[in-house]
Amino acid sequence: MNILLLGSGGREHALAWKIAQSPLVDKLYIAPGNAGTASCGENVALKAEDFAAVGEFALAHGIDMLVVGPEAPLVAGIADYFKNDGRLSKIPVIGPSKQGAQLEGSKDFAKHFMQRHGIPTAAYFSVTKENKQEGLDFLKTMKAPYVLKADGLAAGKGVLIINDLQEACEELDNMLSGKFGAASGKVVLEEFLSGIECSVFALTDGKDYVILPEAKDYKRIGEGDTGLNTGGMGAVSPVSFCTPEFMQKVESRIVRPTIGGLKAENIDYTGFVFFGLINVGGEPYVIEYNARMGDPETEVVMLRLGNDIVDLFKAAADGTLASKKIEKDPRYAVTVMLVSGGYPGEYEKGKVINGLDKVEGSVAFHAGTAIKDGKTVTSGGRVIALSSYGASKQEALSASFRNAAIVDFDGKYYRRDIGFDLQ
Ligand code: AMP
Ligand code: GLY
Repeated sequence: MNILLLGSGGREHALAWKIAQSPLVDKLYIAPGNAGTASCGENVALKAEDFAAVGEFALAHGIDMLVVGPEAPLVAGIADYFKNDGRLSKIPVIGPSKQGAQLEGSKDFAKHFMQRHGIPTAAYFSVTKENKQEGLDFLKTMKAPYVLKADGLAAGKGVLIINDLQEACEELDNMLSGKFGAASGKVVLEEFLSGIECSVFALTDGKDYVILPEAKDYKRIGEGDTGLNTGGMGAVSPVSFCTPEFMQKVESRIVRPTIGGLKAENIDYTGFVFFGLINVGGEPYVIEYNARMGDPETEVVMLRLGNDIVDLFKAAADGTLASKKIEKDPRYAVTVMLVSGGYPGEYEKGKVINGLDKVEGSVAFHAGTAIKDGKTVTSGGRVIALSSYGASKQEALSASFRNAAIVDFDGKYYRRDIGFDLQ
């Protein structure tokens, strides 16, 4: 079969790497892809937001399945676009409908959904300009720190955690006045939960699901989890506190009721559900949902997934996931992200990346890279994710760090403490 994968980051390189290993695949296209995905298939210069162009390409190239990497086209309704076009409706899309993607696209939708289905999450209150006074009153009933979230997509920047009540009230005002544009026209105020986070992924056909290997990502730029938030500086799998007992709670209290809730509400959902969880004294709570895989979690999850991913995608599209069993590589997998100097603030692009041909014992997944004048150059903040296996977490990390010293570009930075807080 012919597959078209949308996206251009490290997540998409890892997905492309895994898809390309499937004997079910004749041809893999990645749109727009990056310098790394070009080694797994053919990159095509299409914009994911241009649904008409994606559709025409799919028809012209005999595409049998569309796999959507990032959230933006899902939230904008690419699955519905395919479903509602008579010529495209037979092409299965791995990625939920616009309504399903609201689990990620609207924090207010996600919180109401969890409330309706009794899924453990932080207490909350949704505020618009109309009920601002009630929002301020709610804040006053909460204890510090105060959690304020823009309702809509805000490129990972829409969450503020503030210690001072006065400041929190001012920021609520700023957010409602457009601090994050339309995304913060509505704001979700939340109770602060204290614990350690992890990421759990399910693939669903809308009624059944399989749970993929879990992961933990490291979002802060600085060692010891300090400094600004980034897209993710590294990840590890498995996660030591995700014991069978904890995962049993995750499945029965969170995954099953989520998939059951989607089905009960007739929400079309074929694709990944990403559960951003927090472990509060051994009890799992949902911090957020995403309607896609995580990045950089995918760069470790794909290493540990034993199954043919295209076989799983086919089962998701056919509604036969109940017959599938996930096989997990027993080894540890880690990824260490090399980023551009200055990231997540301002940084320069176009730096030549050397040493990629000398990488041994790791897979170098490309995040922000491009080809310029025949050379691989940086084209984003996150540049290369060095992913490795090991019999122990330490052994896997050693391989990634060894290669992190070899791959080089002007301004390179990476965290040397990925996995530091886990056993
Ligand atoms: P989100 O975009 O919802 O994942 O939030 C970004 C980050 O803010 C999360 O990964 C958490 O570290 C933190 N966070 C969000 N909500 C809460 C909460 N209710 N309690 C504590 N930390 C939170
Ligand atoms: N690593 C977190 C995310 O993909 O949103």
